[in-house]
Amino acid sequence: MSPSAADLLAWYDRHRRVLPWRAAPGEARDPYRIWLSEVMLQQTTVAAVGPRYARFLQRFPTVGALAAADWAEVAEEWAGLGYYARARNLHACAKAVAAAGGFPRNTEGLAALPGIGPYTAAAVGAIAFDAPVVPVDGNVERVMARIHGVEAPLPGAKPILTAHAAACMEDPVARARPGDFAQALFDLGATVCTPRNPACALCPWREGCAAHRAGIQAELPRKSPKPARPLRHGVHFLLRDDAGRVLLRRRPEKGLLGGMLEVPGTPWRADPWPETEALDHAPSTAAWRPVEGIARHGFTHFELEMRLYAAPAVTMAAVAGEWMLPSAARGALPSVMRRLLDLAGAVV
Ligand code: ADE
Repeated sequence: MSPSAADLLAWYDRHRRVLPWRAAPGEARDPYRIWLSEVMLQQTTVAAVGPRYARFLQRFPTVGALAAADWAEVAEEWAGLGYYARARNLHACAKAVAAAGGFPRNTEGLAALPGIGPYTAAAVGAIAFDAPVVPVDGNVERVMARIHGVEAPLPGAKPILTAHAAACMEDPVARARPGDFAQALFDLGATVCTPRNPACALCPWREGCAAHRAGIQAELPRKSPKPARPLRHGVHFLLRDDAGRVLLRRRPEKGLLGGMLEVPGTPWRADPWPETEALDHAPSTAAWRPVEGIARHGFTHFELEMRLYAAPAVTMAAVAGEWMLPSAARGALPSVMRRLLDLAGAVV
């Protein structure tokens, strides 16, 4: 027996968050804005998405505008939001939607678009079109684990939690407002049923909550221990010209951070780079000096440690790449590369 949708929706009607992508009650819903917010929210937090979302929409106000843009523009606007494959899919998806004349209105059609997985299809389907589905993100998993007292750890428990979420749509009250129901679950998870110190006293579902009854709400959902991420090493080279600009180059289209700008460097590998071997990958011969310290960045599948060498350019004509002032480079580079500028600090 699922907890009552009426209780949750009554709570949502009083306490819903005002968010930039959220239509006010009765306001028309724009699937483009909803889709964009969902893709961005998979990268970063609600608080961090806000300004980036507004900026993105200013530059690409409609799905047609995004579809018509050059990839380089999209990549630039996505800089710092991580996972460039996602930005690439975002662009491909916009093109497919623009070509079809609009977003499909059901989850099957949405899931067939580039880069749209089951979560995004369900979220956009429910929020933009009131498709009778429940998108399952981390918030929803946590709420379901607690309400139903699911003690099996994640990620193994995902199918059980997804089934519990789907069962919510058996309640006709939820079926009448799937978009609000999904967003109510997000808000409950973000503001009341939080990972630590859940505010059970404020929860509309407290009465029926198995975890609350057992006093184990803060322990759920349990998680299987994560395998350690392997460590990789890279060495990068910051070449400066007389105007204070730094040399950047574009990564190959395929692969990690494909098509993004980078500070030139070695490949990233398991073995640390001896200096002489690393210098073979420098963009030019120059008086390379090591910058003190290590820049670190966590990717999903590995940890990266980067060392940095800096030098003034002797001749600029011969080196391939783009020269950019550090302030502009900061906006155009992915986070991993910005860490090198941070490390360079006093040098640039
Ligand atoms: N998290 C993921 N999608 C969300 C949404 N539409 N509103 C609030 N939080 C979210």
